[in-house]
Amino acid sequence: MSMPSLPQASPAINAWQAFDGARRSGRTRHLLSLDDFESAARGVLPRPIFGYVSGAAEDNRALADNRQAFDELALVPRVLRNVAQRQQGITLFGTRYASPFGIAPMGIAALSAYRGDVVLARAGVAAQIPAVLSGSSLIRLEEVMDAAPGTWFQAYLPGTPERIDALLQRVEAAGVRTLVVTVDIPVAGNRENNIRAGFSTPLRPGLRLAWDGMVRPRWLAGTLLRTLVQHGMPHFENSFAERGAPILSSRVQRDFAARDHFDWSHIAHIRRQWRGPLVVKGILSPQDAALARQHGVDGIIVSNHGGRQLDGAVAPLRVLPAIAEQAGSSMTVMLDGGIRRGTDVIKALALGARAVFVGRPFNYAAAVDGEAGVAAAIALLRAEVDRNLAMLGATSCSELGKEHLMLRQPVWASDG
Ligand code: GLV
Repeated sequence: MSMPSLPQASPAINAWQAFDGARRSGRTRHLLSLDDFESAARGVLPRPIFGYVSGAAEDNRALADNRQAFDELALVPRVLRNVAQRQQGITLFGTRYASPFGIAPMGIAALSAYRGDVVLARAGVAAQIPAVLSGSSLIRLEEVMDAAPGTWFQAYLPGTPERIDALLQRVEAAGVRTLVVTVDIPVAGNRENNIRAGFSTPLRPGLRLAWDGMVRPRWLAGTLLRTLVQHGMPHFENSFAERGAPILSSRVQRDFAARDHFDWSHIAHIRRQWRGPLVVKGILSPQDAALARQHGVDGIIVSNHGGRQLDGAVAPLRVLPAIAEQAGSSMTVMLDGGIRRGTDVIKALALGARAVFVGRPFNYAAAVDGEAGVAAAIALLRAEVDRNLAMLGATSCSELGKEHLMLRQPVWASDG
């Protein structure tokens, strides 16, 4: 009796481990999970900057529930399914990406790492994952697009139609294809933790900030002074068609205001002009997902802004199934908030997200070791997703579904 020919093992994971090991410097070699990057960044960043990135709003209930929601789900693996030929790539708006996660937009990233916006965008392009440049960034969009073509741009809408149009023209001319419009900031969130940590907008240089900088000499020399010497005082470069205010100016507050009058007519207006993929970020209600679809939006990011806006806002994962149902097949559903592990990525995909975005951990990685740090963090998460797919018995992201999940419930439900 002849044996059937046995399928061969895949070399994929070993290749990643080799890639990962080769690129890692002494600064990240001991960091084994995304959370490890947070602890490392705490030691690198001055307290006000770390507090700005890590903090959320009011009592951090939305922030905490973003994590809790993942922990309420257990995974149900299938075994003996020949997963040797697995791959985790996905397609978003016609572009192929190597992993089902991307880098979320984060404001003032250039205060966490020298040229932080370029660092994040370049790391994204190099790893073939989507990176989204924040509209509250300190490096000109044009420079980021030159350094990292393919980067997505996230806009906060300026207050008037003329200024919106001018910004869209600039964004298109810079070579952006995918535009993300964030809609969950009608007013600023209550970031009292920022005040407690000594962070303010505009940034107020005082004794406290000076002291915090002194005790973080690597940040002081390598990020702040290097930026000031080589590029001058950072400005908000990408809020409008024209240059925005310097980070120390009281104009910053005025520039961030006047967003509470926006409604769906503004999205309709943008949709008429924007030819590329249009993504709306900050959707939490299935009704709003339906409205986005009716307005011709190509994709939505289910998000509570990392818990930084409405405290107590529902965790994106909890509303994902209902939203995915509303979106149907015509609109791409993505999610951010609380993703720290490959298993979190897997859970979101199994509930209907096509991709997820990860914010704070990549900011910390940039603070710890610049582009190499972000590459190391991406490699870790990528290896986790690969391992998890295999152990779940799946060979691609599209195979993931609710059958891989179970709500954690009491082992024994007594009926009294
Ligand atoms: C900016 O979007 C922030 O959440 O700080």
